[in-house]
Amino acid sequence: MSNGQLFSEERSAEVVAASFDKTPEPRLRQILTSLAHHLHAFVKDVELTEEEWGFAIDFLTRTGHMSNDVRQEFILLSDVLGISMLVETINHRTGGTSTESTVLGPFHMVESPERQLGDDIALDGKGTPCLVSGRVTGPDGEPLAGASVDVWQTNEDGFYDVQQPDIQPAGNLRGLFTADADGRFWFRSVVPRYYPIPDDGPVGQLLAATGRHPNRPAHLHFIVAAPGYRPVTTHVFVADSPYLDSDAVFGVKESLIRDVPEVDDPARAAEAGLPNPFRTLTFDLTLLRADQAPPAAQPAQAQPTVVRGAPS
Ligand code: BEZ
Ligand code: FE
Repeated sequence: MSNGQLFSEERSAEVVAASFDKTPEPRLRQILTSLAHHLHAFVKDVELTEEEWGFAIDFLTRTGHMSNDVRQEFILLSDVLGISMLVETINHRTGGTSTESTVLGPFHMVESPERQLGDDIALDGKGTPCLVSGRVTGPDGEPLAGASVDVWQTNEDGFYDVQQPDIQPAGNLRGLFTADADGRFWFRSVVPRYYPIPDDGPVGQLLAATGRHPNRPAHLHFIVAAPGYRPVTTHVFVADSPYLDSDAVFGVKESLIRDVPEVDDPARAAEAGLPNPFRTLTFDLTLLRADQAPPAAQPAQAQPTVVRGAPS
């Protein structure tokens, strides 16, 4: 027997990768082969000890045990490792031609309550009033009449309605709007606040052990869709929020940050149906046509070549 396929430290990645050579499905073969190479390179890079390997197995086991119908600790792990954002970004490249996407997060409701343009989604009337408006257009500036605009956000204490069922009315700070003939939408709300992602499980322990905080900067979530166009799942971030430069899930993109200035004008407040003063947030969105080819990957910026994780 040839020793060609026997396991050794030097040839471990090649041997394991070769074990997948007969995988009938080409994409599965590609993924597992690449995974074998990257995982083995990682273990060699850090010279993983048996104790560390055991800790990792226990960590992943606890991550599984923490997950249930309403809590997905593995997605949270993917979020704080930046994998969710990377997958999102790779699969929704814009090349600067349309509104950038960001993570969906766990607090979206499959059926948001339908609202009329101008409605107040702050059902409990608590918070700093804010008029939110924008226009949905296609790549050539054509208005997308009738586009659906699904919105959800936290209250001024940084909680979604589903996190405070005994405090907030169901459907608070959520709404499904239909843009008018000019692609415009507008509604009344309150300024959202930054908040921590769930940090009472293994992912929270990872953040604590690495000196990272669990917070996300203040944002409103949007899913905007129109027939014949690519839907976009995104946020608009409040420009004066803390944590814009250290989002726990890496969701911030420069193009999605907006000022939320105060307006002190009783006539405009009366027109908007809000108390004076109030804040305003404008967020225009551009969707790509469904038949448009997604832009190619951006060339990678020059990186330092090899970064070995040397203990300090
Ligand atoms: C959110 O923005 O709702 C969110 C995203 C990722 C993890 C937790 C929350
Ligand atoms: Fe959120």
